[in-house]
Amino acid sequence: MKLGSVRELSGMKLVLKDPELEGVDPVYWVFKEVSNSPPADGWENCTVIAPGKLGQEFPKTFGHYHPNGVPVEVYHLVAGEGILQMQKKRVIAGELQLDEVEEVYLITAKPGDEIEINPNWGHSWSNVGSVPLISFDNWRTGHTPTDYEPIEKQQGLAYYLVETGGDIRAVKNPKYQNLPEPIWLTADEFRQKFRS
Ligand SMILES: [Fe+2]
Repeated sequence: MKLGSVRELSGMKLVLKDPELEGVDPVYWVFKEVSNSPPADGWENCTVIAPGKLGQEFPKTFGHYHPNGVPVEVYHLVAGEGILQMQKKRVIAGELQLDEVEEVYLITAKPGDEIEINPNWGHSWSNVGSVPLISFDNWRTGHTPTDYEPIEKQQGLAYYLVETGGDIRAVKNPKYQNLPEPIWLTADEFRQKFRS
């Protein structure tokens, strides 16, 4: 397994609720060629998100969309407590609507959970626990700046996950219009919902 990339706080400010704050740094690391490290056969990348806080916000990955026509991505949570935010892109007459989404899911995940990411869904993991959040995924297609630009332009996904009074709360990102309320599900509930 090799270190592929490091996301430092300076680069994450583009997608934070409060870009001026200080907090954990670096925020997360992505290791590649995981499948060269048995027993992790079949997986490609390993993402490690630091525990802690960025102001009130939980440390998270930058968030991205996938290009059209790509295979489903699968995440396997290895350690920690995470919430995967997924937002379905809104496309009208072939045009991606940057400031609108069709649906938002907030999926609470524990070690052993696996979650499939279908095309058209933007996604980002947040570490809501007190230890590093470690996940494997099978993404071998790589990324281009185009995958990240829509999220960067909107200063993040639809909701910011913050802690207030010991509770985890989803705060609307004001750069989106007409946001649907987020649907909170466990990874099992999400899998069952999209099985049929
Ligand atoms: Fe992805």
